[in-house]
Amino acid sequence: MYTQTIPAVPLADFANDIRAGLKTSGQKELPSKYLYDEVGSALFEVICVLPEYGLTRADQRLLRRHAQDVVSHFQGPVIVTELGSGSGRKTRWVLEALCRRQATSYYPIEISQSALARCVQELGQLSALSIVGVERPYLDGLLEVAARRRVREHLLVLFLGSTIGNFDREPAVNFLKEIRRILHPGDGLLLGTDLEKPIRDLILAYDDPLGVTAAFNLNLLGRINRELDGTFDLSAFEHVARYESAHRRIEMHLRSRMKQEVSIPKANLEVDFEEGETIWTESCHKYNLEEVVQMAKASGFGCAAQWLDGEWLFAENLLIAE
Ligand code: TRP
Repeated sequence: MYTQTIPAVPLADFANDIRAGLKTSGQKELPSKYLYDEVGSALFEVICVLPEYGLTRADQRLLRRHAQDVVSHFQGPVIVTELGSGSGRKTRWVLEALCRRQATSYYPIEISQSALARCVQELGQLSALSIVGVERPYLDGLLEVAARRRVREHLLVLFLGSTIGNFDREPAVNFLKEIRRILHPGDGLLLGTDLEKPIRDLILAYDDPLGVTAAFNLNLLGRINRELDGTFDLSAFEHVARYESAHRRIEMHLRSRMKQEVSIPKANLEVDFEEGETIWTESCHKYNLEEVVQMAKASGFGCAAQWLDGEWLFAENLLIAE
């Protein structure tokens, strides 16, 4: 077993993205990837065990139940990479199924250093597995991993937990196309998708009564305070989760409770907020099974299998590059 880490995203990028998102006369926005600093990643781990948030458990059940089916689609050596590994807990079964066949390499790609460290710790005990953590944005990381593959090795990309749902529908297909361009025919993409379900269940999943999701969302402002010397008063903002039926997505916002001004010196920025004005932090699109097959086709994949959870409407889709 061998582990190492390929590092990091600079603070200047964070400052630039914050400035671009807040310095606008229209809808203010912050990129959701910044939710996952050390505090955010820890809060997200809690979200994943909340009774109202069934998504992660469904993902885990499917991976446990069908790991063997997934790996049976590939002959010969397979290297596994994961876009946004988080703690790596869900990935264990697929890796174990592969390691039973032969020694395997696993490259978790993660912008959260703390999540990456936890992942390496969680999976580091598997014998016959070598882990190389890649601390990069998804596509940069994937290029890096693809450059290390040897001839005859298949690449299996894991994109779990319905992170694809954070993209708008058209950019989601474009993102799948970008992945496809890096892959070879016969390589795989295991894609998790959260499915359409009653709105009441969705709202509870993204606005839990304990307030963990609210804390997770508000932590983005806390992070700006910590890293860019921002002056956000967190109690002057509230978490909002709403379902937009036209787009079939949950939108997450931070709503200013009052008219106020905030300064963010290290992003060289002063921002005004009207009472009720929101910062849009995340969208979570919901899918149906047929639509996923179409998305696969449109991006150069065939959909080889779809596995559906019985308790929470969620699907694991195995796409094979054509
Ligand atoms: N984007 C993930 C999802 O769609 C993770 C998530 C859960 C999330 N709750 C959130 C992201 C609240 C932002 C805010 O489920």
